[in-house]
Amino acid sequence: MDVTVSEPKTIGVLTGGGDCPGLNAVIRAVVRRAEWGLGWRVLGFHDGWNGLLHDAWEELTVVGCRGILPRGGTILGTSRYQPFMYDDGMERVNATLERHHVDALVVIGGEGTLSAAAAVHREGVPLVGVPKTIDNDIGLTERTFGFDTAVQIATEAIDRLHTTAESHNRVIVVEVMGRHVGHIATWAGLAGGATVTLVPEEPFDIADVCARLQRRHQRGKLASIVVVAEGAIPKPGTLDLPEAPIDAFGHRRLGGICNVVANEIESRTGFETRVTVLGHVQRGGTPTAFDRALASWYGVAAVDALAAEDYGTMVAFQANSMVRVPLADAVAELKVTSPELLRIARTFFP
Ligand code: F6P
Repeated sequence: MDVTVSEPKTIGVLTGGGDCPGLNAVIRAVVRRAEWGLGWRVLGFHDGWNGLLHDAWEELTVVGCRGILPRGGTILGTSRYQPFMYDDGMERVNATLERHHVDALVVIGGEGTLSAAAAVHREGVPLVGVPKTIDNDIGLTERTFGFDTAVQIATEAIDRLHTTAESHNRVIVVEVMGRHVGHIATWAGLAGGATVTLVPEEPFDIADVCARLQRRHQRGKLASIVVVAEGAIPKPGTLDLPEAPIDAFGHRRLGGICNVVANEIESRTGFETRVTVLGHVQRGGTPTAFDRALASWYGVAAVDALAAEDYGTMVAFQANSMVRVPLADAVAELKVTSPELLRIARTFFP
């Protein structure tokens, strides 16, 4: 990737959307590359776009960012607020940037935050995006940081659930995150030896789920793990799910599908069934070594993109390398789980 060194700059960085292990590693990398590599000043805006809307920020330095590499969460705070939620949002963003002589921004976020970044860039703000989400569903990048950590946590939980399920001859339904896609469910289900994995990409029939469990139990195994992504969808007319409440940002508040699935399994098969919702445990705590390294790579690549004045792009991980893609293209479509991987996952428990 080209690295062009330009005039000294002041840059801003913000983290938006749901938090994710590795955010602090990106922030640290941005600061190191900017301050030590280019002699630039870095301002960290607080709570996502809110920092620019409300002029809330702190100066970030290499010394001040010491020790944050392995820390979960984000030292800057995060939120789902966006400039276009306010009539004067762009004016406020521009005023903050001008007030502090900020030349360009690094925006670290998922689908919502990066879509806003694409729109803010169209309004003339120079910026580069960094894809963040444990769900791994951002387009045009093969990996987002945080995903590996979430899969590791889910797999460890499944390993633990196996031993208690086997001791009691039970089915345990484990619910993992995955609002629109089943990357976490599929990878953790494969790694943890789940009998069935349910993902949003392939609507499921509860009758098939029960038949597969029954086949396995007829073969002598009396315990099974079912992994269900929170956003999994039953085939029309096969199972009723309760309406999910809508949060302040218009998002469905998911969580709890495992209860419906477990009740149905127990009543149809007679197998004693329990549930575990992993929830935000998957997003908390220290990132894996892979996520720390990937996040650091993303941070350096984002500052390099600013140095090259390649604005309106997102740094993306493709074929073991960092590239830049147009931000608008990256957020145009979510990256779904490959049908090939879903087929592989099914192979183990026909
Ligand atoms: O970051 C994405 C995600 O983890 C989704 O999988 C999940 O549905 C959502 O965040 C929940 O976020 P929150 O509870 O913070 O609104």
